[in-house]
Amino acid sequence: MLMRRIPSLFIAGTLSLLAAASVIGAGNGPDSDTAPEKSVPATQSSEPNPFAGNPAAAAAGRQLFLQTGCYNCHGADAKGGGIAPDLTASKLDAQQMFKTIHDGRTGTLMPSWGKQLDAEQIWKIVTYLRSVKHDG
Ligand code: HEC
Repeated sequence: MLMRRIPSLFIAGTLSLLAAASVIGAGNGPDSDTAPEKSVPATQSSEPNPFAGNPAAAAAGRQLFLQTGCYNCHGADAKGGGIAPDLTASKLDAQQMFKTIHDGRTGTLMPSWGKQLDAEQIWKIVTYLRSVKHDG
């Protein structure tokens, strides 16, 4: 797809500029070629859900949803509890859900769960939420 190529061309261009800059600035210190690593995202939210459509993972995700306390705000069936939105009506895709659960939403009551839950647990919760979502 054309849209996907543009950013990688842009990144390649940026990297070669950085490479050129570090050749020019050679001898400035050992840190000069480490900067590009900062562009690696902290969360792996762009990877596909490894449990997509897996009913056992969805059941495990439901357990995690209850054990972790998501239901306190989102309701036992994830349909909203007055404090937080109905997740069965969410417009987010799986990757956006992962990121929201992992990072939380600054400035709202939605906490970040990246320290309590590992990626596998978050994907299981996402699988559960996808399984109860209205538009699949
Ligand atoms: C303290 C209350 C609270 C808890 C606990 C909580 N949430 Fe949330 N959550 C919220 C609020 C409030 C929002 C809406 C944030 C906003 O306004 O953008 C939200 C938003 C979300 C969204 C984005 C929905 C959308 O369509 O934009 C997801 C997904 C989500 N929560 C999942 C979870 C999961 C999974 C857990 C448990 C691991 C959890 N939440 C625990 C309060 C909470």
